[in-house]
Amino acid sequence: MKLLLCVTVLLVSVEYSFGANILGVVPTPSFSHQVVFWPLWTELSLRGHKVTVITTDPMNNAKLQNLTEIDLHSAYQLFNYSIFQVNERTTLELIYGHNEFFSNILDHMLTKDEVQHIIKDETTHFDVVMVEGFHTAAFAFASRFKCPLILLSSFDASSFAYREIGNPAHPVLHPDAMLPFSNILTFTQRLASCGHILLTKFTHKYLFLPTQQKLVEKHFGTGYPMIEDIFKNYSMFFVNTNHFFHPIKPLLPNIIQIGGGTHLQKPTFLPENLQNVLDNAKNGVIYFSLGSNVKSKDLFDDTRLEILETFKELPYTVLWKFENENLPNISKNVIISKWFPQQDVLRHPNVKLFITQGGLQSLEEAIFSHVPIIGIPVMIMSDQTSNIANIVSKGLGLSLDYKNIRKEDFKSAILTVIQNPRYRNKVKEIAALIQDQPETGLHRAVWWTEYVIRHGGAPHMRNPGIDFPWYQYYLLDIIGFVLLISMVVIFVIVALWKITVKMSRVIRLKLRKSFVYNLLFAYVVT
Ligand SMILES: *[C@@H]1O[C@H](CO)[C@@H](O)[C@H](O)[C@H]1NC(C)=O
Ligand SMILES: *[C@@H]1O[C@H](CO)[C@@H](O)[C@H](O)[C@H]1NC(C)=O
Ligand SMILES: *[C@@H]1O[C@H](CO)[C@@H](O)[C@H](O)[C@H]1NC(C)=O
Ligand SMILES: *[C@@H]1O[C@H](CO)[C@@H](O)[C@H](O)[C@H]1NC(C)=O
Repeated sequence: MKLLLCVTVLLVSVEYSFGANILGVVPTPSFSHQVVFWPLWTELSLRGHKVTVITTDPMNNAKLQNLTEIDLHSAYQLFNYSIFQVNERTTLELIYGHNEFFSNILDHMLTKDEVQHIIKDETTHFDVVMVEGFHTAAFAFASRFKCPLILLSSFDASSFAYREIGNPAHPVLHPDAMLPFSNILTFTQRLASCGHILLTKFTHKYLFLPTQQKLVEKHFGTGYPMIEDIFKNYSMFFVNTNHFFHPIKPLLPNIIQIGGGTHLQKPTFLPENLQNVLDNAKNGVIYFSLGSNVKSKDLFDDTRLEILETFKELPYTVLWKFENENLPNISKNVIISKWFPQQDVLRHPNVKLFITQGGLQSLEEAIFSHVPIIGIPVMIMSDQTSNIANIVSKGLGLSLDYKNIRKEDFKSAILTVIQNPRYRNKVKEIAALIQDQPETGLHRAVWWTEYVIRHGGAPHMRNPGIDFPWYQYYLLDIIGFVLLISMVVIFVIVALWKITVKMSRVIRLKLRKSFVYNLLFAYVVT
């Protein structure tokens, strides 16, 4: 009996387990873009899938035998500039720079021998390709392997992407994550948000897509469909959002929210000296980091001095992620390091405040550790400004403009957020809301990936609206038709009216001298 049961269980599990070949493509040289998907690659490989990932930050975990990582760490050499310098550029320079940066990243990736081998080798086969949603040339992998495409985003997808796949992204209700707006938009902001739609549509059509299409030709070869068509053929879009932090918007069934601290790791022990510092900081600790992309060492000199002067006057210990060995004029209560185990530092009960550039992953780490926030957004072409605007409007902290950091304001902001318990209480409330979900974001991501594999795609979940001509989608033909009919009706009424008036005048003239007319006239007048 037991044997029979065993055999049945084995058969059932064999029937339901299927090892698929999965290709993940995450070529952005930025830690926050990578770390969100680590649990996904781990989990998929542990479930018996053969996972190949092109990544700039391999986990190198020998226990994950079914995971092959193609190391693209060399792409970091493309990201060797100071964000503070970049911010001094004009909008046009920023757009062109953005285009060049992303084109260079893909060029770098697609030139790699291991990647070329994947493309050229006739025996390679994948059941699903999972690509970061804005690396559009990499969508060609799905055409190369004639398999479904899953799009990934380590933060919210752009409003352009939402609209392209037929998901509502209203310019007033859901402004793009790169715009520094939150909640209620002023008239100027609403105008800017509409302008942003036109700008992105235009730059994609005439700059980004042609550049990326050239990369497809260069590295994959000719005969590939247009990127827009592969894009519209996507099966799923995994976005790292949740309903409590990001603005509420209706989502298509094939847009899966994987947010809510998906990247968070289990707590581990802090290095001993750091643990001691944190334990002994009786007045509390401020943790200050501008993340992995923005470097504190690149702060302009006067800003850095204002920050140091501020810290000098505070009773708190400050841990500052600073990328140089030395920081002149540093006061005794400030400790610098090129790297801190951020998640575990934030979990320490003595940490009273997190000063951050506002990257999504950093904010989630602070919120789940119940640490209130001061945001100093830096990267213009990112979600930092809107994230911080959200933080402020939801009452989780305050924000400062890095170009205008003055000791008095900075100090008063720090003291306000640390001393007023309403900020930490609000953080706790939001953390509880985000974590109260029927399943984790990771669980959703894994389940829907296997769903796509099981069914060879999910074309039935696409919004049919994508295939509509825009004038039909926006009802312009209906509005035009109704206007036309109304005009015809109005024209007929006016014409009839004019004819009636004219005829009645003729009749009146003829009748004027008649007896009946005079009689009637006399009657009306009296
Ligand atoms: C690797 O995948 C196989 C099935 O393809 C599975 O039996 C095995 O447990 C997996 N190993 C690891 C370490 O994930
Ligand atoms: C960045 O890297 C590129 C190519 O590797 C190099 O040409 C450029 O000088 C570097 N820039 C800086 C600021 O280091
Ligand atoms: C769209 O996807 C299906 C499979 O999901 C595939 O057969 C078809 O060739 C794809 N079309 C394009 C243009 O990529
Ligand atoms: C140290 O601070 C003083 C003023 O407080 C300033 O004049 C000096 O330039 C600073 N030194 C460095 C190396 O920044």
